[in-house]
Amino acid sequence: MTESSCLLERDAALATITLNAEEKRNAIDLDMVQSLHARLDELSGDRELAAIILTGAGEKAFAAGADIAQLRDRRAADAMGAINSGLFKRIEDFPVPVIAAIKGYALGGGCELAIACDLRVAGRSAKMGQPEVKLGIIPAAGGCYRLPRLIGLGRARELVYTGKIIAAEECLRIGLIDRLVDDDQVIAAARSLAAEIAANGRAAVRMAKATMNALARPNEGMASSMESMAQAQLFESEEKQERMTAFLERKNKKKG
Ligand code: COA
Repeated sequence: MTESSCLLERDAALATITLNAEEKRNAIDLDMVQSLHARLDELSGDRELAAIILTGAGEKAFAAGADIAQLRDRRAADAMGAINSGLFKRIEDFPVPVIAAIKGYALGGGCELAIACDLRVAGRSAKMGQPEVKLGIIPAAGGCYRLPRLIGLGRARELVYTGKIIAAEECLRIGLIDRLVDDDQVIAAARSLAAEIAANGRAAVRMAKATMNALARPNEGMASSMESMAQAQLFESEEKQERMTAFLERKNKKKG
């Protein structure tokens, strides 16, 4: 594991975790998954912690999804291993509120990561969507159940079936983000939200999060198992191989 895949900064009661793979739009590979788990391990027993800000390095992306080069080689057993969905569930269940601070693309697993967070602050450059079907797979790290809960089934269906990417204003309109600010204000706005939270009783906020999560998520286990089982079938499909290869070859053509 490369320690630098995720950076951790601590400032009094606030921690900031930065996904750090700017050159590939903070695409989430196995190394980043392990590194983010390690950062959460560092924070997990900390009673002074009030909130976490999760963001992406650079100006171009929060995260452009799972790393497609790795995804192409994953098989049914990997889907059942819930690599990204296990991490995102841990974030959703983390004892303190997690605020996603989004600039640029939050696509696929990047969008699912953002919606596993408690709140989302975005800059005007934000672009979000679930383009997985374009790659022959489904959003199986919460996109099929957290997204409908957040924005409603109709809007989630449209995003998931079309794979379209929507701009920041539209994200705000449909409730995919909570606050929209200029890009250079994203971290400041996330910090100010975190400060509002930190001013309150630590135990009360933690208990509020745990209670709201428990009450908002009937059938949680079944929902994520269904996603994994569906993805396991698609991970064995020719369609997935072809579509992911096409994405990766597009990249080679660009270089050649
Ligand atoms: N997995 C692996 N690599 C990725 C990636 C991903 N999800 N997203 C971006 N990258 C890489 C690109 O391959 C490229 O690598 P290169 O410099 O070695 O060629 C680099 O990041 C920059 O991406 P590029 O496409 O050149 O940047 P862009 O600004 O023109 O476009 C995106 C950005 C995010 C729109 C585009 O990269 C994209 O569509 N990514 C895939 C999004 C996706 O389908 N995510 C869901 C995965 S489940």
